[in-house]
Amino acid sequence: MQSHWNLNYVILMALMGIQVMAQNTSIPAVPTFNDFMRFSCSELNIQRIDPLVTPDLVPSPHLHQFVGGNALASRMDPSMNISDKATCTTCTFSEDFSNYWTAVLFFHHRNGSFHRVPLMANLGLEKQRGGMTVYYTAPYDKKTKVTAFKPGFRMLIGDPAYREPSPNTGEYKSIAFRCFTEPWGPAPPASEIGGVWDTRHFPDKPCPYGLRVNNFFPTCWDGVNVDSPDHKSHVAYPSNGTFETQWECPSTHPVKVPQVLYETIWNTSAFNDQSMWPTDGSQPFVFSMDDSTGYGWHGDYLFGWKNDALQRAMDNFCGTDCPVLQTQSVEKANECAKSPIVNEPIDGWLESLPGYTPVTF
Ligand SMILES: *[C@@H]1O[C@H](CO)[C@@H](O)[C@H](O)[C@H]1NC(C)=O
Ligand SMILES: *[C@@H]1O[C@H](CO)[C@@H](O)[C@H](O)[C@H]1NC(C)=O
Ligand SMILES: *[C@@H]1O[C@H](CO)[C@@H](O)[C@H](O)[C@H]1NC(C)=O
Ligand SMILES: *[C@@H]1O[C@H](CO)[C@@H](O)[C@H](O)[C@H]1NC(C)=O
Ligand SMILES: *[C@@H]1O[C@H](CO)[C@@H](O)[C@H](O)[C@H]1NC(C)=O
Repeated sequence: MQSHWNLNYVILMALMGIQVMAQNTSIPAVPTFNDFMRFSCSELNIQRIDPLVTPDLVPSPHLHQFVGGNALASRMDPSMNISDKATCTTCTFSEDFSNYWTAVLFFHHRNGSFHRVPLMANLGLEKQRGGMTVYYTAPYDKKTKVTAFKPGFRMLIGDPAYREPSPNTGEYKSIAFRCFTEPWGPAPPASEIGGVWDTRHFPDKPCPYGLRVNNFFPTCWDGVNVDSPDHKSHVAYPSNGTFETQWECPSTHPVKVPQVLYETIWNTSAFNDQSMWPTDGSQPFVFSMDDSTGYGWHGDYLFGWKNDALQRAMDNFCGTDCPVLQTQSVEKANECAKSPIVNEPIDGWLESLPGYTPVTF
């Protein structure tokens, strides 16, 4: 069973000054605040481009929300030197010019209109402007080495076409939704991500304090290809164990890479009023690719760290405080933005999802 620590529980405890005791093993029972790099990446822009899947389609079929370096373009070939091209990043680790993007969440009113759901800053990262929280984790045993991604590397988790569970078990278990029925929770100690508190699809009830999606990328790489036709086959989930334990990689993908995690949180509170919800009792949220199940959640990763910065951080088993990396203030990160290439209304009440013809009843 693949499960992952509920990192927000760790953050909550840290903010409350409570020490979470680790067991006497080389692997923590619960990681401490500084066992993982956790940082904010504010919004860069929200638009219909897809540099990974449909670089030649502008606009792309559905809307994405982008964070990271301002080298973002509709086409970003692996030969592009991203850190050379970028002049700023919305992430607080200022050598990280990677781009991270996901699907966009909308509320579907019972009257047929759609409204984009605002993103919410994460716990302890309140000053970020939209965007997401990104994690990179080196092995918790503080011994096992991982190989940082190479220039040109990119990968994809999930599939916008899914309307039922992913056929890839590793992938299925690596995406989880948590409905916040209390501030940042439920987050009891044993509330690992993907456990009983979570669903793999949209929750079927209001989430008065927000909705969170976590997606954990694979931690094994074929060691050769920076991409593959489906943007997935060059990476793999562990063949045994999980990232939290001593995971093993399949022989086809023998190289251990850092655990990349996106944490995306929406402030759903403006949509709690069930008089706006569908009359048939179904849940009202829909992703930008017209997915009302949630199974189509997907995240895209395009590596863009400057030189060996990420390898340095991983070799030092860096946590959120990482002296071997350069950082910038959240205010400075918030100043980085990039005008969209595709301009169309995405906010306010819309008759249809961007890119889709109006739904007729
Ligand atoms: C932790 O484990 C080591 C090695 O087994 C042992 O020597 C040490 O006494 C243990 N410490 C505690 C606090 O149990
Ligand atoms: C990319 O650009 C950076 C910054 O100019 C430079 O240090 C680095 O060597 C370049 N990388 C490659 C692979 O050319
Ligand atoms: C649906 O309701 C919203 C909020 O009251 C309103 O702004 C919008 O115009 C309505 N849409 C339609 C098609 O009536
Ligand atoms: C999986 O890992 C566990 C724990 O390390 C080990 O006991 C088991 O033999 C491994 N299974 C396989 C198939 O390698
Ligand atoms: C969530 O949105 C509501 C308005 O709907 C706002 O009052 C509240 O401050 C927001 N909460 C956070 C944590 O951003």
